[in-house]
Amino acid sequence: MRVLITSGPTREPLDPVRFLTNGSSGRMGIALAEAVLRSGGEAVVVSGPITHQYPTGAEVHRIETTQQMLEKCTELFPSCDGVIGAAAPCDFKPVQYSDQKLTKAESDGELLLRLVPTPDILAGLGRIKKPYQWIVGFALETQHGKEHALEKLHRKNCDFVALNDPSSIDNTQAKLEIFDVHGNRVALLHGMKSDVAAELLKIALRK
Ligand code: C5P
Repeated sequence: MRVLITSGPTREPLDPVRFLTNGSSGRMGIALAEAVLRSGGEAVVVSGPITHQYPTGAEVHRIETTQQMLEKCTELFPSCDGVIGAAAPCDFKPVQYSDQKLTKAESDGELLLRLVPTPDILAGLGRIKKPYQWIVGFALETQHGKEHALEKLHRKNCDFVALNDPSSIDNTQAKLEIFDVHGNRVALLHGMKSDVAAELLKIALRK
């Protein structure tokens, strides 16, 4: 079993010293990599910049931007049995990258940033998924959780979606509701991310 895991945040540079990002810690990606290794599989991780360590034995590919994560995942996915999208990629990037540091002097008091959407990695992998491969997506919602999670599952051609409670962010614990393609809730997982990750992997492997 060879499992691709996307993990951590991505960064979208504004100028040589600044970037847009988010607070993803990569802890869920680490827990998933450990779960895959413990069950005797190969963990292939495509990760944005994080401070925590991936387990020894994981094959870790470091990237910065969402576009780079997409390219690396597109290259690696065909050799894997499935993918778990635990990353929090930036959904937008600046229209323009400034070669020089943006300065207050040039900005006339106000700096307007124009952003364009970045590609959706899981949706891209969903389009090239082979019948024997599986995809697990995450959804973090503050309202209409099940409805939004299932919309994402279908749009990204996932087999399961893990609806994340917002309290899971940057936490050692996680609370996940897992839904299948029929909209059935197949599990409610609550506890240490290491335990939750192991259960989530078992569910993914049922496909
Ligand atoms: O649409 P949203 O970002 O809420 O979807 C979350 C799921 O999609 C997660 O599994 C996340 O890793 C994945 N995702 C992605 N590429 C993006 C944005 C999100 O693969 N650009």
